[in-house]
Amino acid sequence: MAETANAVALNESQVLEVPASAAAQGSKQTVDPWNVQGEVGADGQIKAINYDKLIEEFGTKKIDEELLARFERVTGKKPHHFLRRGIVFSHRDFELILDRYERNEPFFLYTGRGPSSDSIHVGHCTPFMFTKWLQDTFDVPLVIMLTDDEKYLFSEKRTIEEVQGYCDSNIRDIISMGFDPNKTFIFSDYDYVGGAFYRQITRLAKHITLNQARAIFGFNDSSNIGKIHFGSIQGAAAFANSFPHIFGEDEKKTVGIPCLIPCAVDQDPYFRATRDVAARLTYQGVRFAKPSLIHSLFLPALQGPGTKMSASIDSSAIFMTDTPNQIKNKVNKYAFSGGKVSVEEHRAVGGDTEVDVAYQYLRFFLEDDNELEKIRLAYSKGELLTGELKALCIKELQTFVAAFQERRAKVDDAAVKQFTDIRPLTWVGNPKVPKAGIVVPKLEVAEGAEGDGKLTKNQLKKLEKQRQIEAKKAQKAKEKEDATAS
Ligand code: TRP
Repeated sequence: MAETANAVALNESQVLEVPASAAAQGSKQTVDPWNVQGEVGADGQIKAINYDKLIEEFGTKKIDEELLARFERVTGKKPHHFLRRGIVFSHRDFELILDRYERNEPFFLYTGRGPSSDSIHVGHCTPFMFTKWLQDTFDVPLVIMLTDDEKYLFSEKRTIEEVQGYCDSNIRDIISMGFDPNKTFIFSDYDYVGGAFYRQITRLAKHITLNQARAIFGFNDSSNIGKIHFGSIQGAAAFANSFPHIFGEDEKKTVGIPCLIPCAVDQDPYFRATRDVAARLTYQGVRFAKPSLIHSLFLPALQGPGTKMSASIDSSAIFMTDTPNQIKNKVNKYAFSGGKVSVEEHRAVGGDTEVDVAYQYLRFFLEDDNELEKIRLAYSKGELLTGELKALCIKELQTFVAAFQERRAKVDDAAVKQFTDIRPLTWVGNPKVPKAGIVVPKLEVAEGAEGDGKLTKNQLKKLEKQRQIEAKKAQKAKEKEDATAS
């Protein structure tokens, strides 16, 4: 963990080197894929994460009114409340994706999750909520990577079996977010690495030096080499030619298809490196598309806006398995309050919504802008008390978690198979514009099919392997049944 303290912002073409002094960050805020913490003040208090500063440090762009107005013009849809409220606050080349949507040229969405615990919490849900909305809005393919390998490599204790177990339950959680199975491919690195995906991984690996990995991620001489290499795996899924079953075999046509990556801002270093490599890759004279990014801020921990929820600290998070009562108790007991100590003082001066966790959660989960603004005003003026604000927050969280649990109960093995099978996807894109530019080759799954869409030997092998696993499972189930019947 400590080895990442000197992650630095890089210009994409810059020579990558970190002065040793950069490692000593003292009490500055840290945001990288492994650590998220606000600045620690002289009083020892953790401050709220300063997201404007991150935009500056990372060299990304703020999502402004103009971009949102263009988004609305191009899609005909009111921006999601995460966009309206600056929860999704920063981007890289998002306008290029809007250009493509406008012309109905293909692009896809890519996001992921590191399976680090059995149950996800509401903080894990927010990037997926937004991704689902993007999928509904753009009607394009979505690939979701589960980095079981990452969670094994970056943890001293976790075993492969453990992360694979988390992976299975996390896939079910992700499916419960409501993604469209016809447009969504969910995969785990342990299962999908091979074929076209592995070829792309090695392209990235070949173009990232140890120096660069150190500069971007802060690795040192004692970091295991799996960690150092991992960025090329996470980055490889940002390219359409890693998914021939979705986009076809013809890399001349697919390397130019870009993706949009919705992610929490701590993942940016991975994709900074990926974009840097993309700029240097060509396939038979065709340039690789650089991935675009759209960044969200973190849902704060119950303890305050200086850190994010942590799956390993039970009191910091609302889990998707929590009961209504647990939610109520956690918020009442732990949620950091921006209210004043005494009712008299609160009525006189009012509360601070900027740091109040219950209010911050309402920004994520209460969709009605007017309602939210009313609450903000009432709390700021001291008309609304902390207990009352918490009650509003509890109600929203309970509704959100209950709806999730209802969908989760319906996710069975068949649904998992539906989302994880290596198969073609179907999508429309922009319904107002006929397909233009690069046309995604049509895929034929039928055996013996000719042309671009033919599955590779490797894919056929994988399909065959999957079939065998299914057959074995069925056989086992049958044996079990026979045994209990007799
Ligand atoms: N590294 C991420 C995590 O630990 C998982 C991930 C893989 C991801 N690919 C991604 C997240 C793309 C966002 C976008 O959670």
